[in-house]
Amino acid sequence: MSWDTVRLEWDDTVATLTVDRPDALNALNVDTLEAMSEAIAEAAAEDARALVLTGAGDAFIAGADIKYMQDLSAEAAQEWGELGHEVANALEAFPAPTIAAVNGYAFGGGCEMALACDLRVAAESALIGNTEIDLGIIPGWGATQRLPRLVGDETARRMIFLGERLDADSAAEAGLFGEVVADDDLADVVSELADRLAAKPAFAMWTAKQAINQGQEGSQGSGLAYEKRAFASLFGTHDQREGMAAFVEDREPEFE
Ligand code: CAA
Repeated sequence: MSWDTVRLEWDDTVATLTVDRPDALNALNVDTLEAMSEAIAEAAAEDARALVLTGAGDAFIAGADIKYMQDLSAEAAQEWGELGHEVANALEAFPAPTIAAVNGYAFGGGCEMALACDLRVAAESALIGNTEIDLGIIPGWGATQRLPRLVGDETARRMIFLGERLDADSAAEAGLFGEVVADDDLADVVSELADRLAAKPAFAMWTAKQAINQGQEGSQGSGLAYEKRAFASLFGTHDQREGMAAFVEDREPEFE
């Protein structure tokens, strides 16, 4: 499929989803969110082993489209919120690892899409924040829940209450980015990371992701119980047997 404001491109088993609305700094409107939703589903259906999310031009995603939002009724805003949640949840539940390659502005809903990815790598010129408070609203696509889990309660409250726009190094220090790289190196660093992830055993990778997500959903106790079941369920699979045999036999594993 092809879309006007989203591109889905493949490099072997790694899919890259690029939000491509550079005139609006990749701000997300209804068409773009629906296209993202379809592209994510397509990447999953075609068994992507890693998915990269990035933005065209100099921005990652400058947020939800404020021009679209400004006259929304509360009822329409409910549907709008649900659409954004649907996309963020699809990223979170994607059956392979997802990486946000944060190449520039990641504000509001853009920050929230990055938060829904498994990993975040930023260009050194990137800026990120949940700036909604200065528009008289709050984060609407998951940041009130995902941000505190990632950076801790105090930092999340400061970011959301103050609408702070953090530079890449400060965001990394807060735990928002796993890595900050030179702007020109971002694509290569992310591509190498995606290739490394894609080469890992897919079922174990999916199971690890499910276990971590499950733990984030509920209490630590229910997460630990889930982890126990998930851990045991991998024993007896081809990849478990092969991975351990390869270690014992001191050779490279051949995963399914
Ligand atoms: N929505 C709609 N259009 C946007 C936009 C947004 N979030 N961000 C930028 N644009 C548009 C601008 O209106 C402008 O369009 P025109 O050329 O037609 O005027 C174009 O993109 C370029 O933007 P600027 O001229 O403002 O570029 P700049 O380099 O001077 O500033 C910026 C860049 C700092 C990112 C600034 O555009 C900005 O602050 N944008 C808004 C960021 C924001 O607050 N995002 C959060 C939105 S709320 C949200 O996301 C809610 C939610 O949780 C769901």
